[in-house]
Amino acid sequence: MVDKIVIENLSLTYAEGNESLRHINLKIAANAITVLFGPAGGGKSSLLRCINRLNDLTDIRLLQGKILIDGQNVLDPKTDVIALRRKVGMVFARPVVLPFSIRGNLTYGLELAGEKRKSRLDEAVERSLKLAALWEEVKDRLDDPAVALSGGQQQRLCLARVLANQPEIILLDEPTSGLDPISTGKVEAALQELKHQYTIVLVPHSVQQAARTADYAAFFLQGELVEFGPGRDLFTNPKDKRTEDYVEGRFG
Ligand SMILES: Nc1ncnc2c1ncn2[C@@H]1O[C@H](COP(=O)(O)OP(=O)(O)O)[C@@H](O)[C@H]1O
Ligand SMILES: [Mg+2]
Repeated sequence: MVDKIVIENLSLTYAEGNESLRHINLKIAANAITVLFGPAGGGKSSLLRCINRLNDLTDIRLLQGKILIDGQNVLDPKTDVIALRRKVGMVFARPVVLPFSIRGNLTYGLELAGEKRKSRLDEAVERSLKLAALWEEVKDRLDDPAVALSGGQQQRLCLARVLANQPEIILLDEPTSGLDPISTGKVEAALQELKHQYTIVLVPHSVQQAARTADYAAFFLQGELVEFGPGRDLFTNPKDKRTEDYVEGRFG
């Protein structure tokens, strides 16, 4: 097992409020789905935003510790943030498609990066749509506006857009919270395939989704990482009383 991301003693306090992350130590394996779960306010989104430096423009009082990706500390001021965000793609709760065609949503990033060859762009479009389990549904209408897709399709397009940039790590923050069960199932199925090639960090929208998807699971409560372990252990045989109470639905 390769640890793709190693988080060491990470603490975060925003300018407003108390500590949002307290001394987090966590190793995230390559080629697996690691879920970060727990009640709202636990620090899950904050942690994801640290991993790809989305917090850079946020008013922060204190950020200490390390986040090593392939051994490099991404919190180091010398980090190339553009390159980092290529390597670490992110999908958010609400699909935000660009006001372009389906194809245009997928070629945009590559074109910005200087790719002009049509064959390369076409290849990236097909590959990323297949990986996101959307190809069959849209292959005959790639030039239609992306906004015409259903919510579930738009979210898979956002996933495909991330994949088109050939990341190594994919962060997903409650990516199916606005989706119906069928679309949710498609996204989850896509993630199960993708994990063979990528490192996936998922904040699920429910304990059920956490239990369904987790190879590894980390339970967060009010800025603390309470428990971490293989999903099958954590959901069936939690060690910490707080994890057990949450998993069994005694608090929300
Ligand atoms: N930009 C921000 N400024 C100040 N406080 C924030 C900000 N973002 C999150 N917080 C606070 O940090 C804590 C953790 O929030 P968050 O990371 O969103 O948790 P989760 O994703 O687990 O619900 C909460 O107390 C929240 O109010
Ligand atoms: Mg959140």
